[in-house]
Amino acid sequence: MSLKSNIRKSDLPKHIAIIMDGNGRWAKQQGLRRVLGHQNGTKAVRETMEGAAELGVKHLTLYAFSTENWKRPKLEIDTLMKLLVSSLKKELSTLVKNNIRLSAIGNLQALPPKANKELHEVMDKTATHTGLTLTLALSYGAREEIVKAVKDISEKVKNNIISLENLDETIINEHLYTQNLPEVDLLIRTSGECRVSNFLLWQIAYAELYFTPVLWPEFNKEDLFKAIVNYQQRERRFGKTSEQLQ
Ligand code: FPP
Repeated sequence: MSLKSNIRKSDLPKHIAIIMDGNGRWAKQQGLRRVLGHQNGTKAVRETMEGAAELGVKHLTLYAFSTENWKRPKLEIDTLMKLLVSSLKKELSTLVKNNIRLSAIGNLQALPPKANKELHEVMDKTATHTGLTLTLALSYGAREEIVKAVKDISEKVKNNIISLENLDETIINEHLYTQNLPEVDLLIRTSGECRVSNFLLWQIAYAELYFTPVLWPEFNKEDLFKAIVNYQQRERRFGKTSEQLQ
């Protein structure tokens, strides 16, 4: 029986973020080239967004390309960018069918023009969808995001648009790429690595962390449901005591 029936709809994570890791290792295990790992990773992206939409999760954010990933061999970067364009074209119908709105965070100007254009086209075409918001983190790095926010805020302080006395967490939130997203409730990382790798550092302050050994190309709906069942078994105290939560 599917784990889906064990999930309480009243207590779903509002925002799930995923570090999709292990494409290269999966390809190696299969005796395939790394790029085929990424290609198979796109199937897991479809499974995951469909699973999240089915449950009624409102926000899913996927770490698709980090600022550090620009250091990879050019061939791999080119393949990932081509894969992004072809996936966007191919998956538009899945987004429409499931009422999913596409969004993106990161330094999008750094993307090749073709990828940037396709991304904005699909974002425009799905802008009125009201179900899941699927956010792709592309050329994204949390430290870069924070530096950018600090610069933007400093400029506003200098020009008396923000006063130092009023500077608070809300204002910082409003200057991050994720300004329209709720905080992350559940952060999943595949492939057995237990680190955060410069992903949503501010936004995961109170997230529940879930690490699974499953390699990303093999991650499927049941794995997503398993992570959510595990999340629902945890007590989120946000700094309070157990007794205070009763
Ligand atoms: C990490 O695996 C994965 C990536 C750097 C890219 C993720 C991309 C995809 C899943 C496909 C394209 C995505 C979209 C949204 C169309 P890795 O290469 O670091 O694996 P390894 O650690 O085993 O080498």
